[in-house]
Amino acid sequence: MPTIPLRTPIPGPKSKALAERRAKAVPRGLSHGTPIYVAKAKDAWLEDVDGNRYLDFAGGIGCINVGHRRDEVVDAVKAQLDQFLHTCVQVTPYESYIRLAERMNDVTPGKFAKKTIFVNSGAEAIENAVKIARAYTKRPGIIAFEDAFHGRTMMTLALTSKTHPYKAGFAPFPSDVYRIPYAYCYRCSYSLKYPACDLYCARHLEDTFKRVVANEEVAAVIAEPVLGEGGFVAPPPDYFQVLLDLCHRYGILFIADEVQSGFGRTGALFASERYGIEPDILVSAKSLGGGLPLAAVTGRAEVMDAPGIGGLGGTFAGNPLSCVAALAVLELFERENLLARANELGERFQRRAREWQRRWAIIGDVRGLGGMQAIELVQSQQSRTPAAEETKKIAQFCYEHGLITITAGSYSNVIRVLVPLVITNEQMDEALNVLESAIAAVCDEKGAVAQFV
Ligand SMILES: Cc1ncc(COP(=O)(O)O)c(C=O)c1O
Repeated sequence: MPTIPLRTPIPGPKSKALAERRAKAVPRGLSHGTPIYVAKAKDAWLEDVDGNRYLDFAGGIGCINVGHRRDEVVDAVKAQLDQFLHTCVQVTPYESYIRLAERMNDVTPGKFAKKTIFVNSGAEAIENAVKIARAYTKRPGIIAFEDAFHGRTMMTLALTSKTHPYKAGFAPFPSDVYRIPYAYCYRCSYSLKYPACDLYCARHLEDTFKRVVANEEVAAVIAEPVLGEGGFVAPPPDYFQVLLDLCHRYGILFIADEVQSGFGRTGALFASERYGIEPDILVSAKSLGGGLPLAAVTGRAEVMDAPGIGGLGGTFAGNPLSCVAALAVLELFERENLLARANELGERFQRRAREWQRRWAIIGDVRGLGGMQAIELVQSQQSRTPAAEETKKIAQFCYEHGLITITAGSYSNVIRVLVPLVITNEQMDEALNVLESAIAAVCDEKGAVAQFV
């Protein structure tokens, strides 16, 4: 039974009034996972404009790994507010940008010399990674994956896989993007089974060079080490090494999109570390800024220096408030052992989710890496037919009972956990109780009712 007490039915009257104003003022293309208008947030909880408090499994879509409004982040931003807000790093640069670049070069996988550039969003960072890879290799082609999500700008939409709602109606997209199946073992495109498959999907890259695009035309292969929007799919442990070896055999760069899998989510600062790989270019964003907009492209120094002077940048890119916030985030990771906490939370989720899988046929797959965990919902464990409607209902039950969750997956049938890593065990259990009640309710078992105080 859910135990998070709420003051009003959800959405409350103030949220409803804001939704009416929103409908008139904002285009429908911007969607909301919940009808809840937020007033405050701290650590792992949110409070809405009607005074209801929720536990937060969404973390602003993976941006709040260190917790909402951490004192260290807020203090760093406040101190910067008293100095300067914006000068544009392309006009008068500042120390925090340089210090953060040094830190990023240090903490990303690979002992080789590296350089980092900062921009505003994950999509902008991916755009830059593609520019840099093309400038370095002098080749046009980019190979991306089925179920990938890389952003909403035109180039990143070309790289993104899911059609509705992301791509439909927005074509034409930039060219020279090729797509191959990902190691989504639960729905293997080749109907094979790991490890007997011998990672056919990774080795198949060589076939792609014969039948789809010539290897000498390919600048980079871009992959999320764990799929984010695509449904938290974590490939087998040896998958990325095979892929990287193939890339390097043909002079192709490997770009790791760690926008969602990065910054501690998987129990390492970057999921690439968990796979023992050293990407040529690594893109990070989301939780890097501790809640402020910031993204980074870090890569081999000689690769990053390929674009000519003035070829990279942006007016607000690497703004000083975001840079100091990110420096505070890195310190928090060092001080608070948040990586170990990500693993503990992941295990806590897995234990409960495996029980649910034994109890309810709707839980098709329980998967993830470290604290990046999800359940995939299906009509039956035999058919594996995606249960998108049920997934939506579960997410709705959750927010109506005090837990903010978000869905994912090419078939919109995955519930993912992006909880701030500072959540306590008690709060985590409370949140999992709500999720369990939601599944029970949707499975037509005896659901529980919200308590209003
Ligand atoms: C893996 C991945 N890449 C890129 C992006 C795009 O980032 P942004 O929304 O900051 O542009 C996202 C956003 O969810 C993502 O998950």
